[in-house]
Amino acid sequence: MTNLFNPDQLLYGGDYNPEQWPPEIWREDVRLMQEAGVNFVSLGIFSWAKLQAGPEAAFNFGWLDEVMALLHAGGVGINLATATASPPPWLFVQFPDARPVTWDGVRLEVGGRQLYCPSHQGFRTAVRALVRAMAQRYGDHPALRLWHVNNEYGCHISECYCDLCAEQFRGWLRGRYGDIDALNAAWGTAFWSQQYHRWAEIQPPRQAPTYANPAQQLDWRRFSSDNLLSLYELEVAVLRELTPHVPVTTNFLGFLKNVNYVQWASREDVVSLDAYPDPADPHSHVEAALQYDMVRSLGGGRRWLLMEQATSAVNWRTRNAPKRPGLMRLDSLQAVAHGASAVMYFQWRASRAGAEKYHSGMLPHVGEQSRTWQEVKALGAELRDLKGLARMGVPTKVALLFDWESWWALEIDSKPSADLRQMPVVLKYYAALRSLGQSVDLVWPGSDLNGYAAVIAPNAYLLTAQSAGNLRSFVQRGGHLVLGPFSGIVDEHEQIGLGGYPALLRDVLGAWVEEWLPLAPGETLGLRLEDGREARASTWAEKLHLSGGRALAQFTEDYLAGGAAISEHVFRKGRSYYLAADLAREDIAWLLRRALAAAGAAVSDLPLELDVGVSSGEDGWVLSLLNFHRTATLHLRLPEGGRELSGEGSLASALALAPLAARFVRYDRPIVPSDVRVVASDPAHD
Ligand code: GLA
Ligand code: ZN
Repeated sequence: MTNLFNPDQLLYGGDYNPEQWPPEIWREDVRLMQEAGVNFVSLGIFSWAKLQAGPEAAFNFGWLDEVMALLHAGGVGINLATATASPPPWLFVQFPDARPVTWDGVRLEVGGRQLYCPSHQGFRTAVRALVRAMAQRYGDHPALRLWHVNNEYGCHISECYCDLCAEQFRGWLRGRYGDIDALNAAWGTAFWSQQYHRWAEIQPPRQAPTYANPAQQLDWRRFSSDNLLSLYELEVAVLRELTPHVPVTTNFLGFLKNVNYVQWASREDVVSLDAYPDPADPHSHVEAALQYDMVRSLGGGRRWLLMEQATSAVNWRTRNAPKRPGLMRLDSLQAVAHGASAVMYFQWRASRAGAEKYHSGMLPHVGEQSRTWQEVKALGAELRDLKGLARMGVPTKVALLFDWESWWALEIDSKPSADLRQMPVVLKYYAALRSLGQSVDLVWPGSDLNGYAAVIAPNAYLLTAQSAGNLRSFVQRGGHLVLGPFSGIVDEHEQIGLGGYPALLRDVLGAWVEEWLPLAPGETLGLRLEDGREARASTWAEKLHLSGGRALAQFTEDYLAGGAAISEHVFRKGRSYYLAADLAREDIAWLLRRALAAAGAAVSDLPLELDVGVSSGEDGWVLSLLNFHRTATLHLRLPEGGRELSGEGSLASALALAPLAARFVRYDRPIVPSDVRVVASDPAHD
């Protein structure tokens, strides 16, 4: 396979859309790419309509040949798209029923992008033909380094409710359940007279008079994700056949609910991500870090590609703030610190027409006189100096459990509270871990948990017997498990485990839940932590009984007063903790500090504005320090013996990190992020 990861460089560049510009500009583009240190571009993502003028037309590759030759001559490697992301309008004249249908029965129209029904055979045939033609023409091109399959599957259309998809769904259900009685049992169709006697009676969970069967909804999510995956696999099969020497990726889009990336990542050679932290939100870098740790973990810890981000503003929020000077660099270096080996943008040159003309680019409308262009050039040079990081991994001892299926199940309607949502809870626990100086991997229900000291599961609403068994043996063997509220409630069919929640882990927790108490917006419930501090639950509280565990916090109000709010239990060689309430980040951190210390992990106390990480490899350990605070300088105390990553100068252990500054410090002995202390902040902030 092509040596995509030249260990001596980090990749730098962006989406390149030359079809938007005349050929004279292409030459200028390559010259400017060289000036900026661009060594990699994603090409052809939205080129289908220019490559093919109609169902009978021959492929028009001349212009793409020319662009690829120019890039190659300029020393720019190519991440070539299969060009299938936005089918051309003519395809829907040929196949009107290839347009997807929404939940409420609306067939969508041409004029946007990503318009396709994943089940339509005519569409699939056209995709296969295009990918085949691309692979045949360019598979041996000297500049080709990676295939970029489609683009952000599921970003706009992640499910289609048309009749073709209904038929596919039935086939998928037959494959899963074999016979219809097994489906009836799994779906609990005895309720509301929903029993199916023939497969043909089953429909997608389209708009119905009231709540659709929850297990039907859950299977629909699984099917829809799998159906999109089959499109990806259709393309990959062609590429593997014709160009087995070229690696493949498809760009993920953060935590995209409807696409279960765990199923996808193992079918890629390298995992890639698009990330758009909101510059107007001073804490958006925390969610970005969570996404970066997610993709690194999806790739088994290997380095990954930041395939897209914005140099400045996007066009798709209500108000689109620019990135202030320095923030683009900081955002980019953050990805590298969390394991990225490519820093890429959407897009190389800002468009002058179309829906994204107000989206920033590496080269803004203003051109070379812009500060963005100056920052782009400076970052290209800086990344050359940081190339040593491309050989390193991110060591971790702490894992955060995440499960797309549980997310789907939790957010199906008709729950005790619609306010308990997956991502805010996960983000809060992740932020608490970061504030304690932890590097974090994400793990999935079936993951091998050996090697982690602690597993934190902010919410595991759906827990199969197998994944509960995985957590149980982790604790048995000496692991430390922290489990958040409303966990272990249902199995894979959304059926409840009886006899006290969570039925499958009561012995591990030494505690069980009797009932739930959802709290209204603004409503809170008091509790007292073991050290005497007062805390407040919001959104959610539970009546918890101890059965061997002990209370680390007790409720002080309402009819829960005096009852346990947090439990701790020694189970075999390990220990478990359960939170019977949705708590503030600081209070979650209080518990995590204790659990991590018991697990033997060093903890510190860091402001969220400071992103601290450690990368390591054969060349030593590198501490990354990124100050996301817009106005405060952070005064840090570092471990002794550090040197600048680029350069030989040794560093004093006292370091002032200016607003939006980033530093990489090299050590020749093991260090961890929690070795860093924040001594003061100037001006002081909380
Ligand atoms: C996504 C798409 C790009 C572009 C950007 C804009 O990431 O993949 O084509 O639309 O959003 O932010
Ligand atoms: Zn469809």
